[in-house]
Amino acid sequence: MVYNTMIKNILAIGAVGVLLAGCKAGGDNPGREYAPNMYHSVAYEPLSQIMDEEAGNIVNSLDGRKGEFFNSNKFNPNWMNMREPAPNTVRRTRNGMLPYRLPKDSLAVAARVLKNPLDSTAAIVGEGKVLYEMYCDHCHGATGAGDGKVSDKFAGVPNYKSDALLNITEGHIFHVITHGKGLMQAHGSQVSQEDRWKIAKYVKTLQK
Ligand code: HEC
Repeated sequence: MVYNTMIKNILAIGAVGVLLAGCKAGGDNPGREYAPNMYHSVAYEPLSQIMDEEAGNIVNSLDGRKGEFFNSNKFNPNWMNMREPAPNTVRRTRNGMLPYRLPKDSLAVAARVLKNPLDSTAAIVGEGKVLYEMYCDHCHGATGAGDGKVSDKFAGVPNYKSDALLNITEGHIFHVITHGKGLMQAHGSQVSQEDRWKIAKYVKTLQK
């Protein structure tokens, strides 16, 4: 009797072992997955392309449907989900602006040539104010006097109403926000082009 139970136990342990070994993942094999539709998105995904139309058809039991995991787009070359942009094209912003290409040392050109493409409506100036409070206020101060909270630690923040700055153009301000100047760091990567133009409009109102 004792002998029998022992054999049963050994068999049971063996069976559990075999079951666990079946879950093993390695290399390209993800192993047995619990609730696989939590890992594999059915939506088109740029980074996990599954070209096997049958993949996951155990999970998806609906007739005439592809497997649960098939996520490629057969209409594109190589069944890619995202298409490459047409050759020699440049992505524009939502409002049709091209990327800003004037380099940092072209401040004088920018100041002379650039025109603010946005209208001076109250709404746009208002948005500029909100953005100014997010990105500039802590150094330049609410009225642009150079007395923001950070300015006692970060010396050299100028007053927008100083003689040197009173007549700067919106293009000048746009360029300085984009590339920074002297002690001021560039904000071009954080603030979109449209938003930089809105801020430039608002800064001009602070100078009045
Ligand atoms: C970390 C502090 C800081 C932040 C944030 C900051 N600035 Fe400045 N800004 C400075 C300093 C310092 C200078 C003086 C730069 C110099 O001439 O060395 C300056 C200069 C300027 C000038 C004058 C440029 C010139 O030609 O002399 C403008 C205009 C300006 N900032 C606008 C902005 C706007 C708009 C923002 C928000 C998007 C902003 N700054 C964010 C510190 C800051």
